[in-house]
Amino acid sequence: MSGFERRQGTLHGDGVSLVELGDRHGTPLYVYSGSALLGAYDAYAAAFAPVPHRICYALKANSSGGLLRLLAGRGAGADIVSGGELQAALRAGFPPERIVFSGVGKTDAEIRLGLEAGIGEFNAESEDEIRRLSSIAAGLGLTARVTLRVNPDIDPRSHPYISTGLRENKFGVAIDAAPAILDRVRALPGVEVSGVQCHIGSQVTDLGALEQAAGALVALTRSLLGRGFPLHTIDIGGGLGVDYDGTGAATPADLAARVLPAVAGLPLRLLLEPGRSIVARAGVLLARVIGIKDNGARRFVIVDAGMNDLLRPSLYEAFHRIEPVVDRGGAAGVVDVVGPVCESGDFLARERALPPVAVGELVAVRDAGAYGFSMASNYNMRPRAAEVLVENGQARVIRRRETFEDLVRTEVAE
Ligand code: LLP
Repeated sequence: MSGFERRQGTLHGDGVSLVELGDRHGTPLYVYSGSALLGAYDAYAAAFAPVPHRICYALKANSSGGLLRLLAGRGAGADIVSGGELQAALRAGFPPERIVFSGVGKTDAEIRLGLEAGIGEFNAESEDEIRRLSSIAAGLGLTARVTLRVNPDIDPRSHPYISTGLRENKFGVAIDAAPAILDRVRALPGVEVSGVQCHIGSQVTDLGALEQAAGALVALTRSLLGRGFPLHTIDIGGGLGVDYDGTGAATPADLAARVLPAVAGLPLRLLLEPGRSIVARAGVLLARVIGIKDNGARRFVIVDAGMNDLLRPSLYEAFHRIEPVVDRGGAAGVVDVVGPVCESGDFLARERALPPVAVGELVAVRDAGAYGFSMASNYNMRPRAAEVLVENGQARVIRRRETFEDLVRTEVAE
C-alpha cells in the first residue's frame, strides 16, 4: 500500500488532494502518508512475529522527526550511523535499548554518546573498533554490547554504490575471520559480544542473495554458540528492495519465508534494519512545472525540484515514476524531467513517457520517501523543501521550508 491514490483523476495522499497541498504549502514539497509508513512497519512486525525479533528502522532512509515519532510509538527500534542520528532517535522517543549503532567510521565522541545513552548494541566493523569500544567503555565504567559485522562476500546484484557485502567493499570483517577475532576480544574489559550482523546492500530485489547471507550468518552463529559464546542477537541488516516501477516486489512476508526456517530454533533475537522498504513508498516529492522547452533533440519539462531535493536519479541513475498530479488525459510524450540546478546531471527522469503537463501544473515523483529528503542539500543556495505528513485525511507540516536566513545562519560575519 502506498497511501496515494487517484480520486476523479487527482492524486490524493491519505485522502488529501495533492493539488491542495501544493497550493497551500508551496513546492518542492515532500508529502508522506502516515498509513503507508505504519502499514509497511506492521508488515515487517507481522512477518517476523513467529520468532523473537526487533525491527530497527534505518534512520538514514529518512530521519524526519514527524515520521520517527510514528515509528517509535509503534514499537520500532532504530538503526543509526552517526551521533546526529542517535540524537534524532532519542529525541523521537526510541528507547535507547532499542537502538543499534552501525557504521564503518564511528568516532570516539560518537561511541561515547552511544555508551552514555545506554544503546542496545554497537555493530562493530573491525577488531580495532572493538578494541576502541573496549577502552572507551572501560574508561567510563560501562559495558558495550557488541555485534560483529561480517562480510559474507555475496553479490546483492544492486547498484555498485550501494552494494556492501562484497570483499571489495569497506564494510565488516571477512566472515571466515570472525571466530578468531571474537576469540581475541573475548576477554577485553568493557565489551560483551552479543552476536553477529551482516548487511549485503540496499535495493536488493534478489531474495536468494538475502537468504544466502542470512544462512551464512546462521551457520556462523551456530558455530560460535557451540564454542561457548553467550550470544543473544542475530542481525540480518536491511536491504529489501522496492518496486520503483510499480510492478510488484518482494514483501517482508516473502523475506520471512526465506529467512525464518534457518533462524527458527536459535535461542536468539532476530534483528532487522530495514529503511527503504519502510518509508520509500510512503512519500512523494511534489514539484511544479516551471517551463517546457524543446531544443530539437529533446523536449525538457523543467520543474522546481532538482538534484538537491532528490539526488537518487542523478547519483545512481535511479528510476522514479513521475506522474501529473491532475490527470488530464491525452497522449504521453517522451521528455526529460529536469530541475533548475546548473548541471546536466540534474534530472529526475530522462527519455520518459509523460502524459501532458502544462507550465504551472504539479507533478508527483513517486516512492521518494526513502533517501529523498535525507540526502537533500542546499546546492545552488536552494532552501530544502518542506515536509507534510498526512494522516486520516488531515495534513500537518512536519518540517517548514528553509529560508535564506536558514542558509546563512552558520556563517560567521567578519
Ligand atoms: N543497515 C545498514 C548497515 C546499512 O548500511 C543500510 C543502508 C541499511 C541498514 C538500510 O538499508 P535499506 O533497508 O534502506 O536498503 N542512498 C542509497 C541507499 C544507501 C543505503 C546505505 N545503507 C539510495 O538512495 O538508494
